[in-house]
Amino acid sequence: MKQRENWTSNLGFILAAAGSAIGLGNIWRFPYVTGTNGGAAFLLIFLGAIILIGFPVIVAEISLGRSTEKNPVGAFKKIAPDTPWWVVGGLGVFTGFIILSYYSVVAGWSMSYIFKALNGFTPGTDFAALFGSHISGFGVPLFWHAVFMLITVLVIRAGVVGGIQKVAKTLMPVLFIILITLVIRAVTLPGAGEGLSFYLKPDFSKISIQTFTDAIAQAFFTLSLGMGAMITYGSYLSKNDNVSDNAVYIISFDTLIAILAGFAIFPAVFALGFSPSAGPGLVFITLPGVLAKMPLGSLFGFLFFLLLSISALTSAISLLEVVVAYVVDEKGWERKKAAQIIGFIIFLVGIPPILGYSSLSGFSFLGMDVLDTYDWFANNIFLPLGGLLTSIFAAYVWKAKNMMKEANSAPGKITLGKGYAFLLKYIAPTGIIIIMIFNIWTTFVG
Ligand code: TRP
Repeated sequence: MKQRENWTSNLGFILAAAGSAIGLGNIWRFPYVTGTNGGAAFLLIFLGAIILIGFPVIVAEISLGRSTEKNPVGAFKKIAPDTPWWVVGGLGVFTGFIILSYYSVVAGWSMSYIFKALNGFTPGTDFAALFGSHISGFGVPLFWHAVFMLITVLVIRAGVVGGIQKVAKTLMPVLFIILITLVIRAVTLPGAGEGLSFYLKPDFSKISIQTFTDAIAQAFFTLSLGMGAMITYGSYLSKNDNVSDNAVYIISFDTLIAILAGFAIFPAVFALGFSPSAGPGLVFITLPGVLAKMPLGSLFGFLFFLLLSISALTSAISLLEVVVAYVVDEKGWERKKAAQIIGFIIFLVGIPPILGYSSLSGFSFLGMDVLDTYDWFANNIFLPLGGLLTSIFAAYVWKAKNMMKEANSAPGKITLGKGYAFLLKYIAPTGIIIIMIFNIWTTFVG
């Protein structure tokens, strides 16, 4: 049998996994959610969710991958043969399909905004109308969705080391430098302080049950958990590398970048007299307005949308890799062919979300358009369910002690013990069940 490809270094793995984790969830979603959910108060709860739920689940996923050296379906099959547990891996592969299809559409918007920014945003433009007309077109969003998927496919075709690791090693430092540049620019604008206090001032009156469930959901999405991305990346990790140390690095990078993104956005928004708005509007509507008024706005706009697109690319490759690893391991497909065919199908699945702003605008699921519907199912059903079943599997089927043996097998700074077993067996599953029930309840009942 062919030897499984391994990351060539521990750093290669950390950057690839951090690249998966750091994405639209960090640069676009986290700042907005934090800003409107009580600032530093939300941050504390988010950190709690990361440590109590994110950490046990990410360690379980990486260990599952490294122990079995398989894609998600193969991993469950290898540990529990002749049981239906492999379905959990299958659910992950399916979820990867769905997430990537709309993620690529949004990444496409971001790529086309790189060029809009370069041409300069004209002060006084109605940027909401500009964004509306951009997404409700067909050809342009479709074109950028196609370009983004094509790049993603090319990276996956090139393999784990030659593609994923190389791109992560090249682009993650670029991403970091761009982000630091933008943070320095934003916080030194006159009047930046108001934005900083909006972003960070703890406002405990904004805390409700919803805040906790938002924090847990954000923890899942931002760490790429619940669909086997970390199982797959873990399957390429050498036996000499320590799982828990790596998990801590990935979590720290991811959290740092998310927090920094807020420092790049809010001071600028407030300094130039704008107020923070909700959802996609913040980066695609408010920010162009800010950039139009800012000296060297086209340069900073170019950098910002480049940053957003890079972060999306390194996440998208992890989503495609999950599906490709599955057909390569389980169905014996050749990697290049798998990347092309699957990339093309995902491209097609991404067309309805584009049409949701034009010919399918009549579509509504609980008031959501097609893209938001895909996103809702992924975030509220598939990812938490995947994470829940993975933690139950690791804790009770594989057994916490076997899982910890795998995680502890290479020497490192962290050795997992009883405290970890407690988080994995009780805290993580309970926390996830609570958010699932709450989210489904608030959506369908009240
Ligand atoms: N973590 C990425 C972000 O923050 C998105 C992502 C990539 C993801 N792979 C994933 C989310 C797997 C869930 C599961 O944007």
